[in-house]
Amino acid sequence: MTQTETQPSPAQPAQPSSIRDVIESRRSIRRFVQEPMPEADLREILRLASLAPSAWNAQTWRFAVVQDQALKEQLRAAAYGQPQVTDAPAVIVVYSDMEDTLSTVEETAHPGMGDAGRTQQRQTFDGAFGSQDVAQRGQWGLAQANIAFGFLMLAARGLGYDGVPMLGFDPQKVRELLDLPEHVQFAGIYPIGRRAEDGYPHHRHSVDRITTWK
Ligand SMILES: Cc1cc2nc3c(=O)[nH]c(=O)nc-3n(C[C@H](O)[C@H](O)[C@H](O)COP(=O)(O)O)c2cc1C
Repeated sequence: MTQTETQPSPAQPAQPSSIRDVIESRRSIRRFVQEPMPEADLREILRLASLAPSAWNAQTWRFAVVQDQALKEQLRAAAYGQPQVTDAPAVIVVYSDMEDTLSTVEETAHPGMGDAGRTQQRQTFDGAFGSQDVAQRGQWGLAQANIAFGFLMLAARGLGYDGVPMLGFDPQKVRELLDLPEHVQFAGIYPIGRRAEDGYPHHRHSVDRITTWK
């Protein structure tokens, strides 16, 4: 192996070893090393993201992984030409599907609760959402999916990957490109790969600016 093959890119930070390091070292990255992402790593990131909590364990989140270059180019066009969409080896689309959640809600009851648990889960969801319209309960589903999106970003960083969360796209166009039903709501899209730039240091409100203590 040559020297360049063994040396990590200068922009690659050390693999974080604690949740604090994961959070501190995450920043939005929009330029990526041009190499495919191993499917095992993508699967592990999605598995970790799906360990996020959700109300009544509803798990409204769904993922679409886009690696096909032609589809990434169409996604980029739907994202107003933002170049990180095609620069990344993969784009993870994080969305919520509350209608799928509702029609299969028994799956989300803990198996330890048995048939009674499944019946209870059905009654809970029918009672809470049966009288709401699709858009209203879709908003509730999206709130759950946003939690998984946060987990996904941290899971990626924990495995040495980076990306940028994005909502700058036309949701209707993305639904059409991915053949998703009208009712799904997007938490965001996440171009992901190995970082090829440092990104910007964090610029945040102080804790005192955003916190009251009672
Ligand atoms: C919900 C959401 C939507 C965002 N949409 C975009 C986007 O469309 N394009 C982009 O370049 N960055 C986007 N960002 C990235 C933000 O600009 C970035 O997270 C913020 O400036 C803080 O920087 P940091 O992520 O490096 O800490 C988005 C971030 C979030 C959380």
